[in-house]
Amino acid sequence: MNHIQDRIPLASGTAIPCVGFGTWKTPPAETTASVVNAIAAGYRHIDTATAYGNEAAVGQGIKQSGVPRSDIFLTTKLWNPDQGYQQTLSACDKSLAALQTDYVDLYLIHWPHDRKYFDNWQERNAETWRAFEELYRAGKVRAIGLSNFRPHHIENILQNSTIAPMVDQIEFHPGMAQQETLAFCRAHGMAVEGWSPLGSGRVFKLEEMHRLTEKYGKSVAQLCLRWAVQHGVIPLPKSVTPSRIAENAQIFDFVLDEADMTLLDTLDCGWSGLDPDNLVY
Ligand SMILES: NC(=O)c1ccc[n+]([C@@H]2O[C@H](COP(=O)([O-])OP(=O)(O)OC[C@H]3O[C@@H](n4cnc5c(N)ncnc54)[C@H](OP(=O)(O)O)[C@@H]3O)[C@@H](O)[C@H]2O)c1
Repeated sequence: MNHIQDRIPLASGTAIPCVGFGTWKTPPAETTASVVNAIAAGYRHIDTATAYGNEAAVGQGIKQSGVPRSDIFLTTKLWNPDQGYQQTLSACDKSLAALQTDYVDLYLIHWPHDRKYFDNWQERNAETWRAFEELYRAGKVRAIGLSNFRPHHIENILQNSTIAPMVDQIEFHPGMAQQETLAFCRAHGMAVEGWSPLGSGRVFKLEEMHRLTEKYGKSVAQLCLRWAVQHGVIPLPKSVTPSRIAENAQIFDFVLDEADMTLLDTLDCGWSGLDPDNLVY
């Protein structure tokens, strides 16, 4: 990958830009401007979710950017209470209306239902996936995937589907390199997206990261995003600050050496605490 608009092929036959723009916790009032700024800075991949409450503002930002909808890769996610066949179909229609578009490029199940809270978690996830297949066949979503699914959750989908998931979006930052899930996804032809690539801001507390900035002449954020890209992971940095939005796009003019890749693999900025096996619904 040499440019923020370079794309990684998906099993759908479509392709996903190698860096996305995050919008979690961006209030609707700030979302439109941040999306416009991101597109002006070169991003062509926007990540939102029904749960973020800002789909309408994201749709507005894409419209205001002046870049054709067809040049933007847009992702949204099905929220947990909307799981189930019929609920999923109507939740997707609501998202499309809010986003002011007639398709999304990628639709994800935001979180798996898991054994801790649901005896029939396998059936629940598979039923939702059946609706995802339907939406994909209808052309309302151009690729379908998962988010926060671990290998045992993905196995269940693979065993109960006719169309395999194309993407998994997982937490990915120093301290959370998720090697097992990454290897599993690779083996099953799934692209991997990395959420909270800056640890929601926690990476900036790591002294070692600040030391590395001198060696590369790059910021802590740029080092983290580059590390993700070199792992073949699609990072989704979020910012509402125009200078940071632009900075986070400038990661294609340097390469982390092997020793520093390993160093970032082993550094630990702490994790979100959001555990797909122990999520409270
Ligand atoms: N699938 C899921 O369950 C899931 C879960 C979490 C996140 N996500 C996705 O992943 C995206 C990113 O994750 P995230 O929102 O947790 O956070 P993040 O991108 O890891 O970090 C964002 C934080 O870092 C700051 N920041 C950004 N660039 C910076 C820079 N160059 N220098 C200094 N500070 C910088 C931002 O501040 P300002 O905004 O104030 O500039 C913000 O406080 C989300 O927005 C969402 O799209 C998905």
